[in-house]
Amino acid sequence: MYVCICNGITEEMVEKVASNSKSEKEILSRLGIGSSCGICVLDAVSKINSKLKNKTGQNTSTPKSNTAISN
Ligand code: FES
Repeated sequence: MYVCICNGITEEMVEKVASNSKSEKEILSRLGIGSSCGICVLDAVSKINSKLKNKTGQNTSTPKSNTAISN
């Protein structure tokens, strides 16, 4: 299945690059995902995070802030 139609990037290509990459930004850059129309980026990031999570067994999503606002 294609992740980025403009650049012909498939899920298999993402899996292969994710196996030796450390971050979603690195994977996007190495494959050129989103470098044309950009419509694929949000879905691609979701898929990449899932692959990285499976690879490391960790949650790679952006942590939510627990910072309270005080006066
Ligand atoms: S579908 Fe990925 S840049 Fe257009």
